[in-house]
Amino acid sequence: MRIVDIIDKKKKGYELTREEIDFFISSLVDKTMPDYQASAWLMAVWFQGMTDVETSYLTEAMINSGERIDFGDWTGKIVDKHSTGGVGDKVTITLIPVLAAAGIPIAKLSGKGLGHTGGTIDKLESIPGFSCALSIENLKRQVKDIGVAIGQQTGNLTPADGILYALRDVTATIDAKPLIASSVVSKKIAAGAGNIVLDVKYGSGAFMKTPEDAVELAKIMVNIGKHLNRPITAVVTSMEEPLGRAVGNSVEVIESIEFLKGNIVTGDIAELTYDFATIALMLTGNFVDEQTARDYVKEIILSGKALDKFRELIIAQGGNPAVVDDYGVFKQSKYKLEIPAETSGYVKKIDAYKVAYGCKLLGAGREKKGDPIDYSVGVFLNKKSGEAVQAGDILYTIYANDESKAELCKEYCSDAYEYCTEKPQKEKSIYAVIKPE
Ligand code: URA
Repeated sequence: MRIVDIIDKKKKGYELTREEIDFFISSLVDKTMPDYQASAWLMAVWFQGMTDVETSYLTEAMINSGERIDFGDWTGKIVDKHSTGGVGDKVTITLIPVLAAAGIPIAKLSGKGLGHTGGTIDKLESIPGFSCALSIENLKRQVKDIGVAIGQQTGNLTPADGILYALRDVTATIDAKPLIASSVVSKKIAAGAGNIVLDVKYGSGAFMKTPEDAVELAKIMVNIGKHLNRPITAVVTSMEEPLGRAVGNSVEVIESIEFLKGNIVTGDIAELTYDFATIALMLTGNFVDEQTARDYVKEIILSGKALDKFRELIIAQGGNPAVVDDYGVFKQSKYKLEIPAETSGYVKKIDAYKVAYGCKLLGAGREKKGDPIDYSVGVFLNKKSGEAVQAGDILYTIYANDESKAELCKEYCSDAYEYCTEKPQKEKSIYAVIKPE
């Protein structure tokens, strides 16, 4: 078998066999295939797509490229949650301590920033000392000891995803449904959780631009789960506007800590965290009544138990827990620019992609595979959609380390805001929930 023939076959739109996909993935992982051939194949998939059968084969090959975590008789209790990627999407950081404090063990493999979207690993690693590079043994031990661990795909956990993920990020091949589905589901299954909840995003800041495309992606992932005997629940949610107010790395962790302290009780971050926590509590059979589950989530947050669990997680993964009480412990940016509104009215919409692009220009994301990122930069949206604004009010704040980059970021962020004169209608947070049939 030759890689060039596999690329050519996909380029022409034919269905690849299991053997061809296995050969492609093993050549990728044992490095007998150069990056340029893998990149060409990714682009062929982007243009030609894959059938559901091919996508399942790809997912299996990616799972089998490394080890799988086996939690034994804990498997059915463990939850894993994953988002297909968004802007300001910090729901993993707000949700996971809540679930762990509620007695639901979490074993999560997260990703780094991808394209314009942020990555949970990058955000958490803005906490000085925090590392997601856990060995399988340490991840398992940590879940059993404190009920929560956040790892990353490593040399021996879905290594194929690690390589493809980094290549997709820099070859404009992220937003292909089979590539997203196989990347997400392979990590989830390899990580060993018995209950998988996916947040499938649509909108300007997501890889799927329409709710219909997100539903299609959600169905592909739920079907792969069915095929591989792992039930997946996919929740389709909007990413038209950044989630919460902070976009960046440490700024997002600070906003998450504020939520865990009980200081953020309304808005999209609070709504989605409550929604996902309630779904997880019901999925694991801990609750049958939705309102009782929701009330329990509230109790976990307001009692401080979720925040205590987050501190425990930081300590377990080598981070400095002082960040929880003193945000000055995070690396600080050199400049803080408060940008005033030029118009009065209501904020109608904030284009998530433009804000993300502005943040990337500040250095919050990567341009090339392996680039370092600047944890201290980002944007804080002082005004969000539906909120009244007077000319002169602070609209948003830029945290930067370079004045010219801050100016560029300002162009994108100011352009992201749209106004109207009447208070706009609020979008519902969940568009659809897809479960195995
Ligand atoms: N998250 C992943 O892990 N992979 C993708 O392709 C997109 C989001």
